[in-house]
This record gives sequence, structure tokens and C-alpha cells, in this order.
Amino acid sequence: MNNVIDFINVHRDHYLEELKALLAIPSISALAEHANDVKRCADWCADEMRRIGMQNVRLIPTPGNPVVYGDWLGAPGAPTMLFYGHYDVQPVDPLNLWETPPFEATIRDGEIYARGAADDKGQVFMHFKAIEAHLKQNGKLPINIKIILEGEEEVGSVNLDNFIIANKSDLKADVVVISDSPMFARGVPSICYGLRGLVYTQVDLRGSSTDLHSGSFGGAVANPAFVLSQMIAQMKDRGGHVKVPGFYDDVVPLTQEERDAWATLPFSEKQYRKDFGVPRLHGETDYTTLERTWARPTLEVNGLLSGFTGEGAKTVLPAVAMAKISMRLVPNQDPEKIAKLFEDYVRKIAPKTVELKFTNMHGGKPWMTSFDNPFVQAASRAIEKGFNKTPVLTREGGSIPVVSTFQEVLGLPSVLFGVGLPDENAHAPNEKLDVGNFHGGIISAAYFYDELSRVAVHA
Ligand code: BES
Ligand code: MN
Ligand code: MN
Repeated sequence: MNNVIDFINVHRDHYLEELKALLAIPSISALAEHANDVKRCADWCADEMRRIGMQNVRLIPTPGNPVVYGDWLGAPGAPTMLFYGHYDVQPVDPLNLWETPPFEATIRDGEIYARGAADDKGQVFMHFKAIEAHLKQNGKLPINIKIILEGEEEVGSVNLDNFIIANKSDLKADVVVISDSPMFARGVPSICYGLRGLVYTQVDLRGSSTDLHSGSFGGAVANPAFVLSQMIAQMKDRGGHVKVPGFYDDVVPLTQEERDAWATLPFSEKQYRKDFGVPRLHGETDYTTLERTWARPTLEVNGLLSGFTGEGAKTVLPAVAMAKISMRLVPNQDPEKIAKLFEDYVRKIAPKTVELKFTNMHGGKPWMTSFDNPFVQAASRAIEKGFNKTPVLTREGGSIPVVSTFQEVLGLPSVLFGVGLPDENAHAPNEKLDVGNFHGGIISAAYFYDELSRVAVHA
């Protein structure tokens, strides 16, 4: 291993320059005007995978953006890792809040700033570099590796389940590895063993066929902005508890063991409030902040639109109002069931004064795995070598829809070893990745493949 690690250390600065090229491609999956950039990014990843020595590299079409596939299967008898990452990124607006342009990666104060730096291009690239170092120095990898990179993660992975079902036999492996999550805190590397699921719905209200003069009609015709606000107010109580009947029926309660373990993590509510400019925290009573975000479901309004929001004043009774509402789910809540419960409830509380329309955008199942498996232990040893610290075990509030599919369709456990940070600004202006964590991540990944080679798997 020493020659591999030396190689990585020597090329440290060069890796950042290479990563900048990947970060320069605006592969925003949500915006049709970037379709060509998304395709260009898939090509870039495929070219890079060929260059580092991966084999059978190709773009596999889906009804949406292609999956980039590549493998290296020259270690018969050794375990096979299926690596998953995504090459698409989130939109960049509001652009004026970026200190440097989102697709011109810039290094300052030990961080590389760009859209996709942490989520997920920078973390995918760590694995490219770890693979390259093994192949350049030893001419081989200690394990078999299959890579799939998705181009639609940020828009709900709508085509990926079918891709996995269709390619089930080609995706045979022993373990899935993903680097697409933050570490617990600066200087506190972690392995994540649970993710929340998601239901995302748009609710449209119509109260009249056209906007109306609020003087002539106000008081006689219901205002959809008002009605929507009243309905939203009935979705949660003041204690942060979701009021949709049946919402909590399938929630697996937190174990005392988890609560005790999380209570020992180095977490300061005061610092958290300060870091994110939050005057006072809010959430379900009787749960800590970590418990609320990792192990409890919730409902959020992601966006609201109605009426006149321009400069000055306009007396108008808006014809329509819209809300984008998402619910984060925990084991064993089912996205389809929750979407139905939500719609039933909202229809029930809606007054007859408005017409309602629901559009379910996408969803994903929650995921949780046991962490006393040899793959997690191997990751733990590798991270310890890469960061000189034993990683802590965490769950996360975010969602990666495919992780439960890997379990259900391929029967595979996943190891989530991410090196982002809670203040990485994912999905926000000034997204960044700590350069030291990027480097530690490459070294940990290189060690991880070596550690995995000694895990006993069924032939
Ligand atoms: N990398 C994130 C998932 C993530 C975020 C994991 C925070 C752990 C902590 C991923 O790219 C993402 O943003 N997922 C979306 C999924 C959605 C579009 C279906 C999310 O969580 O909102
Ligand atoms: Mn991601
Ligand atoms: Mn994301």
C-alpha cells in the first residue's frame, strides 16, 4: 500500500486541477437548457474512467440521462464493490449570492468552491483517483470494482430503479459503496447507516377563472392564497407534529441504544444555531436535534407562490395559489402510502371554495442498515488510516432513493462513507469541499479497497 499512498501524496495538487475540469461542466439535471451539458458530463466521466484504467466503460441509455458504467474485474475470488455516485448537480440560483462563479472552481481558505464540489462530483472523483493510484502503481486493484454514475439523482432518480432491475445480473456485487454525504463535523469523520426517504408533492389551488379586483370581489370570493395558508397551518401542530392521520403509524421508534450513542456525539446546539443563523431551534418536543433530523419524519413547505409579489402594491385577489410540499420519511414509512394519506387529508380539510390539484413529483424510500457488518468495519479501519481518527456512526436526514433499491433488488448492503461537511452549502450558493477532506478521502478510499480485499465473501 505504501507505494499507492505515496503516489496519492505526490499528485495531491494535480488532482485539484483535474477536478476543476469536471466541476466546470454545468450538468444541471433539473433544467432542460442544460441537457447537452449533462450529456457532456457523462462523456467526461466515461473518458476519465477509461483513462484511469477502468474497462468496459460505456454510457447506458435510460429514458432520461445515461448511466455511466465501467468495471475492472481482474481479481477473481476477491470481493466486488459496486460504486454508485451521481454526475448531475443542482441548479445554482440565486446566482448573485455566489462569491465566485459556480462553474469556475476556486480554491480559497482550504476549500474548493463550485456547484458539485461536495454533491457529488468531488466525492466521486476521490474514488477515481484512488483507483488510478492502485492501477498505476500495481497494475491491478485488490478487489473487483463496478462503477455506476447516475445523471438524475437530483431530480429523484426516476429511471434508476428500472435500470437496476433490467441490469440485475450485470450489477452482481458484494457491497455498494457511496460517497455522497457529509461527515459528522469538521475533524469528525463518519460512516452513515441510515437515510430518510422522501415524498414530494405540488398542491395547486384555484379560486376563480381569472385574477379579480380585490375591491369589487374581496369578501365574496375566497382567496386561494389565504385558503392555502390556512390548510398549511393545519398540516403540523405547534409542537412540530405532523397532523396527517396515520402519518406516524409505520414509524420505527428510536432505540435507547441509538439515543445513548448519539448523545455522546460532539454536537453543540448553540454552535449549530450560530453556524446557520437560527434564532431558536424548532421541532418535535421530546427529541434532540440529531434525533429530529435523523430518525423522525417531517413535513416541509419547500416553496409557495401566489398573487402579486412585485414592487409596490397591487390590489388583487389571486386566482391561484401553489405550494411545493415534501415529507421526509423514516423506516418503515412507505412513500406511496404517505402520499395517499397526505392527499386524503388535504382534500378533507380543503373548503369547497377552491379546486385542488395534486402532482406527485417523486419519492424515495427510507433506508437503514445494521452497522455490525464486516464492510462497515473495513471502512472504519480505512477511514482511521486516512484521517487518523476513528469514524463515528451516524444517520442522515437527506435522501438517496437508490440505496433502498440496492438492498431490495440486489440484496446488497451499502457503506456510506462521505467526506462533505454540514456547512458544505450543498444545493445552496457557495457549495464547497474541504481540500484536506478531499485528500483524506482519496487515501481512505485507497485503503478501503485494500481492506475490502480481506473481507470474506461467498464465492
Ligand atoms: N447527496 C444528497 C443526499 C444527502 C444529503 C445524503 C444530506 C445525506 C445528507 C443527494 O444528492 C440529494 O440531494 N438527495 C435529494 C434526493 C431527492 C432529490 C430525491 C434530497 O435529499 O433532497
Ligand atoms: Mn448527492
Ligand atoms: Mn444533492
